[in-house]
Amino acid sequence: MTNCFEKTILHDNVTVGDNGSLRFAGVDTAALAKKYGTPLYLMDADLIRRRCRLYQKEMKAAFGGESRPVYAGKAFCTKAIYRIMTECGMSVDLVSPGELFTAKSAGFPMERAFFHGNNKTDADIVLALEAGVGCFVCDSREELIALNRLAEERGIKQAILLRVTPGIDPHTFAAVTTGKVDSKFGSPIAMRLTKLALSLPHIDLLGFHCHIGSQIFEATPYIDAVDVMTGFMADVRDETGFVAKTLNLGGGFGVRYTESDPVFEYDTAIWSLADAVKRAAVRNDLPFPTVLLEPGRSIVADAGMTLYTVGTVKEIPGFRTYVSVDGGMPDNPRYALYRSVYTVVNATHADKAPDRAVTVAGRCCESGDLIAEGARIATPERGDLLAVLVTGAYNYSMASNYNRVPRPPVVFLSKGKDKLAVRRESYEDLVRNDL
Ligand SMILES: Cc1ncc(COP(=O)(O)O)c(C=O)c1O
Repeated sequence: MTNCFEKTILHDNVTVGDNGSLRFAGVDTAALAKKYGTPLYLMDADLIRRRCRLYQKEMKAAFGGESRPVYAGKAFCTKAIYRIMTECGMSVDLVSPGELFTAKSAGFPMERAFFHGNNKTDADIVLALEAGVGCFVCDSREELIALNRLAEERGIKQAILLRVTPGIDPHTFAAVTTGKVDSKFGSPIAMRLTKLALSLPHIDLLGFHCHIGSQIFEATPYIDAVDVMTGFMADVRDETGFVAKTLNLGGGFGVRYTESDPVFEYDTAIWSLADAVKRAAVRNDLPFPTVLLEPGRSIVADAGMTLYTVGTVKEIPGFRTYVSVDGGMPDNPRYALYRSVYTVVNATHADKAPDRAVTVAGRCCESGDLIAEGARIATPERGDLLAVLVTGAYNYSMASNYNRVPRPPVVFLSKGKDKLAVRRESYEDLVRNDL
């Protein structure tokens, strides 16, 4: 080990070694690139475990009882992460049959799974019922009726939460705002759906769910959501006599992608939420519910990094410098989708001060295939390694084979050791299903 902990970049797990090479989770990125090739996804497994424990510990202390975090698997979904979730005693949120299958293949205990989705097909419902999913998060009248019928056919009474849109706009990016009334998710007509759920003999309504959005850096929108949701729970009690046991407040805690993003203290936010739930319960004369949160990004984002190799460096005088790398929108579509801003580091010369503003371009036949614009890095040349930080969430899980680019491997790092979690796709993999 070198003096790699002397200088950190953006997060504690990103450091610079004596040789000037970037280290991630205490491991030299040059050595990892040599061993596995690039592009390469790296995941800091120890940080993921610490985050799970932080959420578990703080939620237990602040809310008490059965309150707990539910990892939102859509942020990063592989068998390896479900093994960590199993080991840490976490619950998980699964949003598709494919996520369910992945968790099940990893041996995740399905009774700790929540099954989401705004348009579950009958086949999805059957798969989840037969897998023994602990709780469905239901979204519509059609789903409730189908679930009741399919559960009855199997002699099951299925626990559910009903997803409600609380009408909160958390003022984050529009594509990741989900709790407004005008949304394909949840239901603004929840009273009618609640009455329907209560009338169906094979449905066991536990309580309510909401998710207001993502990349949220303040507790206020959550506190507003608590007020709306507990007000609704009181209305339900008054109209139907049903007292909800569970309140799921969704995910969305913000993560630092760049130095200009604020630091959001998750423990402080959890205590503010607990305080808001306590006050709202007293105000509405409701018992204190089991509170669930569904963190995805805030568990895995800064536990991830992507490594690329620089190919061409093209300076267009008076315009910009394009630095093209061997990956791009197939492994990270977030800039193309959301204009998401990243911190980029010349990993070969991480000890050198950033002296060049560049556009990091991918290898696809698509002008929009960019990873960053205006990124400040130490002047790169062909063969240098480029690291894009904080790519643990919604990168691998959103990756595609656009331009028939094989998906990179995923390597987990723990206690200074590397372990391959997902193999690099081969060209053979790309044509496997072609007839
Ligand atoms: C219902 C639900 N829960 C949890 C999450 C996770 O959000 P985040 O990754 O921002 O924590 C999402 C994200 O889209 C979601 O839709």
